[in-house]
Amino acid sequence: MAKNVLILLSHPNFDNSLFSKYLANTVQKSGDFQVRLLDKNMENGYFDLEAEKTLLRDCNALVWQFPIYWYNCPASLRNWQDQILSPIVYSADNFLKGKPVQAVFTAGAAEKEYGPTGLNRYTAEEMLRPMEMTANASGMVWKKPLGFYGCSGTPDEKDLAQMARTYEKTLQELL
Ligand SMILES: Cc1cc2nc3c(=O)[nH]c(=O)nc-3n(C[C@H](O)[C@H](O)[C@H](O)COP(=O)(O)O)c2cc1C
Repeated sequence: MAKNVLILLSHPNFDNSLFSKYLANTVQKSGDFQVRLLDKNMENGYFDLEAEKTLLRDCNALVWQFPIYWYNCPASLRNWQDQILSPIVYSADNFLKGKPVQAVFTAGAAEKEYGPTGLNRYTAEEMLRPMEMTANASGMVWKKPLGFYGCSGTPDEKDLAQMARTYEKTLQELL
């Protein structure tokens, strides 16, 4: 089957990642999902616009995957939005229009901390509102984000496997 869900993975330290790497590597094995490591496809802070456009044209749905860094995505995804999304969305040929996009994140904090009574005060959906607004302004279809919480320390293999199953199931719904 064609790989038509493109996972844009933003992680400045992917080689040392425990959670994001496991999730990405596992879902990629199924063959239906293509993982693009944003940080490894930048040169001197810049993406190759034409190479990124080709990937985006070929996909039917997009995933923005990242670890939460300071209540946001890491810099490479913000750079991708500025450098790649902007010229496509503001061109006469916005081929992203109508494509679903879903944020999938790992967070160090426990889920209970993301809410009005938790340390972080706001839910993850509230925290990711700028991304939702970006997707809307781009004409893409914003899907409810999928979050994996408590991603700190050494993960348990069974927990990782369960997380990967949840991720894969969510991705299947985008196919
Ligand atoms: C610079 C930095 C900032 C972080 N900020 C947050 C944060 O704002 N909220 C949170 O829940 N976790 C935060 N974390 C924890 C990461 O989200 C967590 O380490 C990551 O999701 C684990 O995934 P990985 O193994 O793929 O790196 C931060 C980690 C780093 C290194």
